[in-house]
Amino acid sequence: PLPAPFRVPLPVPPVLAPVRTDGTTDYYEIVQRTARLNILPGLRTEAWTYGGSFPGPTIASRSGRRTVVHHRNELPQPVVVHLHGGHTPTASDGYPLDTILPAAGFAAGDSSSSMPGMPDMPGMEGMVGDTRLGQRTYTYPMNQRAATLWYHDHRMGRTGLGVWRGLAGFHLVHDDAEDALPLPRGQRDIPLMIADRSFTADGSFRYPAASAGGVTDAYMNGVLGDVILVNGAPWPVLRTDPARYRLRLLNASNARRYRLELDPQPPGGSALVQIGSDGGLLDRPVAHDAVELAPAERFDVVVDFGRYRPGTRVRLVNRLGSGSTVEVMRFDVTGSGRGDDSAVPDRLGNDAGTGALDPARAVATRTFLFRQQRDGTWTINGEPYRPGHPLVSPKLGTVEVWRFITDFHHPVHVHLDPFRVVSRNDRAPGPYDAGWKDTVDVQPAEAVEVVTRFTDYPGRYLLHCHNLEHEDMAMMADFTVG
Ligand code: C2O
Ligand code: CU
Repeated sequence: PLPAPFRVPLPVPPVLAPVRTDGTTDYYEIVQRTARLNILPGLRTEAWTYGGSFPGPTIASRSGRRTVVHHRNELPQPVVVHLHGGHTPTASDGYPLDTILPAAGFAAGDSSSSMPGMPDMPGMEGMVGDTRLGQRTYTYPMNQRAATLWYHDHRMGRTGLGVWRGLAGFHLVHDDAEDALPLPRGQRDIPLMIADRSFTADGSFRYPAASAGGVTDAYMNGVLGDVILVNGAPWPVLRTDPARYRLRLLNASNARRYRLELDPQPPGGSALVQIGSDGGLLDRPVAHDAVELAPAERFDVVVDFGRYRPGTRVRLVNRLGSGSTVEVMRFDVTGSGRGDDSAVPDRLGNDAGTGALDPARAVATRTFLFRQQRDGTWTINGEPYRPGHPLVSPKLGTVEVWRFITDFHHPVHVHLDPFRVVSRNDRAPGPYDAGWKDTVDVQPAEAVEVVTRFTDYPGRYLLHCHNLEHEDMAMMADFTVG
């Protein structure tokens, strides 16, 4: 039986302290290890963690200051760390074959982790990644604007499993322009990692085991859970002041889409004032009754709980859910306001750089077909993932238009640089497409055009579906920036 919702307080992952800092750089250390977490009442769940918790600790970077993260792998499995939304040189981007092997060597016989379809991927013969034993240092220049990023496992063919078992955390970037705005801050600026999971009766994470042969219909839509976790807790509760809160929503689910709405709506509706997306602040706020999040998308919203009468219990609900996946969490509005001097200004981000992203300046328009082949393979332009075989090779510094066309629903993610949505089915972008994006929610049989520019770092990067099971079943491609 599932636990009752709204019984546990919302945890907020602690911000990791640097082990040292100097004039240019903040240094962090994370040990990846198993931990027995109390997620469901009375049960222990063995998780794979960053530093012993799920979510992992939040890293907070300053735009323009280098962040160096040293990871040590004490898990029984190889891992890869990717900073999702990071503008990162290729050596630190977490290429799926650039694995950190377990410090203690391989645990014999743990083959339970494979998704069918991956181990013998064509084209992998002879491919050797930049493999390290036990540890690796990732260097992030953080030459990017304030935004809500996240870090997660990105190991070849096992990303879905690694993230499901707990390898995910927030990485926030702050900058002076954002700090100068009167947005809610401190205790009223809260990252919310929303992720569904399912569990066996003893509390273990339930993830489809490997050895069962071949991709079956059970995986077609990816792996879904029946428990909604927010910051690692099932359907938690946050007691709020009757004041504005900044909620940084992240859909860290493997495959589930959400349509999130507050229930009840405050008088007048439009409760979710979106101020940011994947790549940081919007130019101007956009008020929504509901927001839709595909896997890996971030929506930064301000909610004014002062619009509710004190004592109101406000549920965050998922209109795409059913049964236990309707409820997400609850906000209990208290009467004891300590005052609220925050505001949402009419102008948020400065729009620098958008001009350079005029699609008319594109030197190329490329089409990417995200399709499942008749034999079950998940492909981009007819190809399952072939590491080392770039699908396209854009030139550094140039603008391109990329057109994504789908069969099923696929959240399409591009590494290295953010993009803007130009059109959806040849019409204007949708209500959830505003701002700088790194992941775009492409519905079945849609065509979405985005414009991007390849900046600063040449080398090998990835384009893939962020339904993690589709990704693990090879719906991924290299592109090389030259
Ligand atoms: Cu969030 Cu290539 O991943
Ligand atoms: Cu997909």
